[in-house]
Amino acid sequence: MSENLRGKRILVVGGARGIGAEIVRRTGQAGADVVVAARSGLEVKIDVADETTIAWAAESLDAFDHVISTASAHHDVPVPDLEHGKVQAAFSAKVIGPLLLAKHFAPRMPADGSFLFFSGIVGWQPKPGTVVKGTANAALAALVTHLAVELAPLRVNAIAPGLTDSGTWNRLPDERRRALYDSAAAASLAGRVGTLEDVTDAALWLLGAGWVTGETVHVDGGARHR
Ligand SMILES: NC(=O)c1ccc[n+]([C@@H]2O[C@H](COP(=O)([O-])OP(=O)(O)OC[C@H]3O[C@@H](n4cnc5c(N)ncnc54)[C@H](OP(=O)(O)O)[C@@H]3O)[C@@H](O)[C@H]2O)c1
Repeated sequence: MSENLRGKRILVVGGARGIGAEIVRRTGQAGADVVVAARSGLEVKIDVADETTIAWAAESLDAFDHVISTASAHHDVPVPDLEHGKVQAAFSAKVIGPLLLAKHFAPRMPADGSFLFFSGIVGWQPKPGTVVKGTANAALAALVTHLAVELAPLRVNAIAPGLTDSGTWNRLPDERRRALYDSAAAASLAGRVGTLEDVTDAALWLLGAGWVTGETVHVDGGARHR
């Protein structure tokens, strides 16, 4: 696995924290030349909701072998409370943003390059209050198959994690976070929530899996099947 990534140039949008930061750490450890992009304060500024930042990065940086985005924007409310701007932000992060990354970066990528995007289990588990996240995640799964066909032989894949202890849930009070983790663990076949290692193992594998394209890999402890 490490040999696949040695010397490869990898861009990680959303690489400042959570799953993205762990991908940065592990691909770097595997010998890749990794560039971190975030909305502010880092090496490279990319806001996937702002095409000019994507175009600037694609034009001014050396070409990349792999482009990864973990971008997501939450808008988990019941239908009567939907706000148009927040709906657009959610679809920008998961659908329009990846499309624009493909538009600007694909033309300079080598034939064995790839894109890796992040969907999520909610796309396959409809529940009240998650219509935006669920639809955006499911749309991303459709997007990778379409992009894989149009951009071939470049590969385009996604990972759909189940509930993962990525740091993102640390914003919840301890008690609520524990309750969330307990119920997610009980709702999975593996009997636990995901770890950063679970998800980044799949990411590193997909970056080197030369015969896998147009796929969404479910890394959710079997939670979709409960
Ligand atoms: N953790 C889970 O339980 C879980 C479950 C299912 C799916 N997922 C998916 O897995 C991915 C990574 O999850 P995570 O837990 O690491 O999430 P996270 O901590 O919320 O990280 C999301 C990342 O997206 C970036 N981002 C948001 N909007 C952006 C934009 N417009 N342009 C560029 N970057 C943007 C954030 O960067 P800033 O630093 O700029 O805010 C952040 O680095 C997400 O797509 C998430 O939906 C996670």
